[in-house]
Amino acid sequence: MLEIIRQRRSVRSYLKKEIEEEKLNEVLKAAMFSPTARNLRPWEFIVITDEETKKKLSSATPYASFARDAPVVLVICYDMNRGRRFKEDCSLCAENIYLEAVNQGLGTCFIQIAEGTEADVGNPEDYVKKVLSIPENFRVQCLLPIGYPEKLPAPHRDEEFEEGKIHYEKF
Ligand SMILES: Cc1cc2nc3c(=O)[nH]c(=O)nc-3n(C[C@H](O)[C@H](O)[C@H](O)COP(=O)(O)O)c2cc1C
Repeated sequence: MLEIIRQRRSVRSYLKKEIEEEKLNEVLKAAMFSPTARNLRPWEFIVITDEETKKKLSSATPYASFARDAPVVLVICYDMNRGRRFKEDCSLCAENIYLEAVNQGLGTCFIQIAEGTEADVGNPEDYVKKVLSIPENFRVQCLLPIGYPEKLPAPHRDEEFEEGKIHYEKF
C-alpha cells in the first residue's frame, strides 16, 4: 500500500485515451468505501465526459484549466441535509479516488471548488452548480479530472518524511 501512496501525485496532463468502464467503476467503488461521519454518506458523484461541459468546468477557477483535457471529470458534491462533516467526508473520499486511480494506472488531481478562488465566471461553486444543474441543498467540494497520465510523475521521496514533525506523548 505504501508504494501506491508514494506513487500518488497530482496529475494534470492526460493521454487522449478513454478510460475503461471497469476501471472507472473501481475508482467509484473506492470513493464509496471511504469513511463518513455517522456513516451518513452525504456525497453524490457526477461523471462528465461531454467536451463542452468539461470546457465549461475548466473555467470554474484559475487552477482548473487542465480539466478540459481529461477524458473524464468526476465531481464530488454533498447533500447539506445529511450530517455536518461534509468537508472531511468528501476529502477522505477524494483521497480514496486518488489512490484507486493510481492502482488502475490512472491519475487525477483535486481541484478546489468549495470556497475556491474566483475566476472570471464569479463564485466557482455557484458556477459549477449552474453548469451541472446541481440542486440547491447540495454543495460542490471539488473536481477530479481523471485519465491516463501523459507522463508518469516522480513518486514521493524518503526525504519528504520529516521526523521532526512527529511528536511523542506531548507536542
Ligand atoms: C484541498 C486541496 C485543494 C487543491 N486544489 C488544487 C487546485 O485547485 N488545482 C490544482 O491544480 N491542484 C490542486 N491541489 C493539488 C495540490 O496542488 C497537490 O496535492 C500538492 O501540490 C502536492 O502534490 P501531490 O499531490 O503531487 O503530492 C489541491 C490539493 C488539495 C489537497
